[in-house]
Amino acid sequence: MSRSTPALARPEPSLDHARPLVVRGLTKSFGPGTRAPWSTKPRRRVRALRDVSFQVDAGSVYGLIGANGSGKSTLIRTLSTLVLADAGDVRVFGYDVQLHSMQVRRLINRVSADPSFFRQMSALENLQFYGRIYGLPGREVRRRAVEILDRLGLDRYRQRAMVKELSRGQQQKIAVARAFLTSPVLMLLDEPTTGLDPRSKRDVQAFVREVQRDHGATIFLTTHDMDEAEVLCDRIAFLVGGRIVAEGTPLELRRQVAGGRPVESVDMEDVFMALTGRSVEDDEEETTDDE
Ligand SMILES: Nc1ncnc2c1ncn2[C@@H]1O[C@H](COP(=O)(O)OP(=O)(O)O)[C@@H](O)[C@H]1O
Ligand SMILES: [Mg+2]
Repeated sequence: MSRSTPALARPEPSLDHARPLVVRGLTKSFGPGTRAPWSTKPRRRVRALRDVSFQVDAGSVYGLIGANGSGKSTLIRTLSTLVLADAGDVRVFGYDVQLHSMQVRRLINRVSADPSFFRQMSALENLQFYGRIYGLPGREVRRRAVEILDRLGLDRYRQRAMVKELSRGQQQKIAVARAFLTSPVLMLLDEPTTGLDPRSKRDVQAFVREVQRDHGATIFLTTHDMDEAEVLCDRIAFLVGGRIVAEGTPLELRRQVAGGRPVESVDMEDVFMALTGRSVEDDEEETTDDE
């Protein structure tokens, strides 16, 4: 007997290896009922993402640069199925993040800008707990956890210390290790190095590059560190007020503002300033419907 597909069933998309991430017309507003609890502004709709479109090539590192409040975390949360968009289309390896969120979750992992752990447990215990939730074999998790933390430069003593005894930078390394434990094919990193000391920054950046190079993972990261974007990213987008205002390879972006100067001499901070009219270090005002 032949199996027939019910006439109205939506065909299951298949994995499209060539397209880790395609975003079209993504738009998201918050409120007025759900304004951030700390906000003192009158209740208005905040426009966090406005018609955002871009795509990320397989095996590449894509960087999104924007000031505080520009919409970076909202974008990452939308890509990782945690926030529902108002409009637009997000595909992860061909799967729609809203219609096929379970398939998407198996392919991605995320490092949030503000990770949390069991503070009375050690890094290794936290990672083992997380591995168990993901159904990974305990011994394998232990081996990989130590291996990844070693590579990130968290020493063996600190791997066994309670998380609450560790610095923010050290905790961020545990967050990175946790996300890579599941070997995701698309990694979403929300400001993975913000607040880290220069040495820890380099450790995390080196690890990200290694994972991309050796495992062919695709990486989407947000940052407001221009040097980091330059060093790590194949392509960069500038986000201002929830809108992508410029996009390209670091070289292409520099060329846009170089004028008569040699392209290599153009500083990325200046490129951001020239293309967005603002500094990435200044926090953004909330953009509301009135604007
Ligand atoms: N859950 C929420 N409820 C209401 N407003 C939010 C919420 N999350 C973010 N926002 C607002 O959306 C805008 C973008 O925030 P966010 O995506 O966190 O920016 P970034 O990560 O670039 O700092 C800000 O104005 C912020 O206050
Ligand atoms: Mg953020």
